Order: sequence, then structure tokens, then C-alpha cells
Amino acid sequence: MLHLDGVVAGYGAGDVLQGVDLTVDAGSVTCIVGPNGAGKSTVLRAISGLLRPREGTITYEGREIHGRPPEEILELGATQVPQSDGLFANLSVRENVLMGAYIARRERKLIERRYAEVAELFPLVGDRPDERAGNLSGGQRRSVEFARSLMLDPALVMLDEPSVGLDPKALKVVAAAIKRMVEAGKTLLVVEQNVRFGLRMSTHGVVMESGRVLMHDRADAVLNNPEMTDLFFGGTPTKAPSPTASRA
Ligand SMILES: Nc1ncnc2c1ncn2[C@@H]1O[C@H](COP(=O)(O)OP(=O)(O)OP(=O)(O)O)[C@@H](O)[C@H]1O
Ligand SMILES: [Mg+2]
Repeated sequence: MLHLDGVVAGYGAGDVLQGVDLTVDAGSVTCIVGPNGAGKSTVLRAISGLLRPREGTITYEGREIHGRPPEEILELGATQVPQSDGLFANLSVRENVLMGAYIARRERKLIERRYAEVAELFPLVGDRPDERAGNLSGGQRRSVEFARSLMLDPALVMLDEPSVGLDPKALKVVAAAIKRMVEAGKTLLVVEQNVRFGLRMSTHGVVMESGRVLMHDRADAVLNNPEMTDLFFGGTPTKAPSPTASRA
């Protein structure tokens, strides 16, 4: 469904992504983990068109999408929920969710149908449409962000750190919301700091460090890889997994 080949991208003079290869199969849940500054968010930005790759190719559903504007990539069915809380606190749940359909703003009936669909996945959206977004809990706000991202019925949903800043109760709300998106047939590409949370809900895992992919394997294999313990769970953080650990 999604294929990155030798993607190089960065912000100023330097390159952040040093040639990233990545494949995401339809129906899978792929989790990217890695230390701060590894380039995880940059990968999502390159896919969604917010950052133009300097080298390499990105194909989505057989079409080359690198270099295309974000609106076009959104229309092709790939959407991103950014890392920071992007809801308007003073607007209602409904107003926030409707913003996800701004590209289709003239198609009223379609928008109402989509709203009803996302309300089925996220009951809060149907039950409390007039609630001020600022009054919601962290987990509820995240659910509204997910709902908004589904308004154009994307096939691929990219989530940047859905667990960040949430307490254990909110984490459960978010985990359930993610599960419902998977059950609704969405393909997910998720970036997570919370390695266990991320890999346990995923089919595949990707480990990034310093703008490169170190490991790409089934999620359970990544989680149980001894080199991961070194990298994330108290080992020496500078020690990179050996090339034999990677079975992409
Ligand atoms: N808008 C920007 N302008 C300049 N440099 C940036 C920008 N965004 C990110 N960077 C730099 O690019 C590198 C990779 O950042 P990125 O946000 O992709 O990392 P990350 O893996 O998502 O990290 P985190 O876990 O902290 O979110 C970092 O060195 C960061 O300082
Ligand atoms: Mg990030």
C-alpha cells in the first residue's frame, strides 16, 4: 500500500532522514519507535506531503506521491494526526470534527453521512456534539482528533504519538479508539514513544535511529529482540542493533 525507497529529507542545511526504506501493507498496523530526534515525525511529514523529500520515492496505492502537496495526498486517502493536540478548545466537538472534511466542504450530504459513520466509531462524537473541546479529557480529545481524521474516509491513517501525555485511564480510551479504527479496516502507521504500548497493538514494528531504519520486522519479534532491550529498556542507548537483527 505504502512504499518508501531511499527517502532523504530535512529542514535546513542538513538531512534528517538519511535514506529511509519502509513498506506498509494494507490492513497492517505498523509502529515506528526510536529515540527523540530519530526522525519518526519527519517520516510521517514526508509521507503526508508537509515536507518535500530531497531524494527517494514514496508510492501510495501505486502512485508516486513524493513532492505532491498535502491536500492532494489527503485526497488520495492518506491522512495524518499530528503529534501536538490540534483541537480548537473553544469550538465544539462537531465543529472540530467537521474541519476534517474541509476539502469536501460543498458536499453537504456526504459530510453528514461521514459524520454519522465516525459517530458510530466514536460515540462521544454522536452523543456530545455541542460539548466544547476544551472541556474534554485527554483521551476524549484524542478520540475527537481521530474522528476528525476519518472524515474523508482515508485508507491510511498516520498517528504521531497518540499516547503522549495521557494517564493510564486515558491510554485505555485511546487504545480502544485505535482498535476500532483497525476493525473499521484502516491501515495504520503509528509513531510511539511508549514502545510497549505501540508494539503490542501493532502487527509490525520499525526501529529508527539517527534518520535510519535499524529494524523492520513483526511487532512481537521487535519487542522481544534483545537488542531492543539495550536500546530502550535500560541498556546502553548508543549500541545499535547488528545488521543481522534486521529482517525487513
Ligand atoms: N521544523 C523543524 N525545523 C528544523 N529542524 C527540525 C524541525 N523538526 C524537526 N527537526 C529536527 O529533525 C530531527 C528529527 O526530528 P523528528 O521530529 O522527526 O524526530 P522524532 O523522532 O519525531 O522525535 P520525538 O520523539 O522527539 O518526537 C531533530 O533533530 C529535530 O531537531
Ligand atoms: Mg516526533
